[in-house]
Amino acid sequence: MEKTFIMIKPDGVRRGLMGEIIGRIERKGFKITKAKLFKPNVELVENHYMEHREKDFFNELVNFIAEDLVMAMKVEGEAVIEVMRLMIGHRDFKVASPGTIRGDFANTITQNIIHGSDSLESAKRELNLWFEEF
Ligand code: CMP
Repeated sequence: MEKTFIMIKPDGVRRGLMGEIIGRIERKGFKITKAKLFKPNVELVENHYMEHREKDFFNELVNFIAEDLVMAMKVEGEAVIEVMRLMIGHRDFKVASPGTIRGDFANTITQNIIHGSDSLESAKRELNLWFEEF
């Protein structure tokens, strides 16, 4: 079964959206097979967002994620990577459709509630990084 890495970002945890988001994942029929609620260190977050290290928002992004609790999850199901990306919605809250998690709850570009792996390759890399898998 396909697996993906999902993270509820600190703004999602702080705003009390864990239940709402987990509910959406479960109602869709996907299985959460691992979860941990913790404050990740800067090194882990920098590694996770490696592809953005040259961007001018990199430090802001890393500080935001490493400053508070995140809910890291392994989610399994058929085509879960693509379907979770659809359920999450566009990265930019102004473009995200109503009905998607970001469309319904995000209101800034950096603090956009949730992250989901964007490919099979990144799902493997991110699950390995956050759960020491593979
Ligand atoms: P995510 O989909 O997790 O991947 C990269 C993250 O960088 C993105 O969500 C946002 O949290 C953040 N991000 C993307 N674009 C910008 C931007 N222009 N300014 C600040 N943060 C951004």
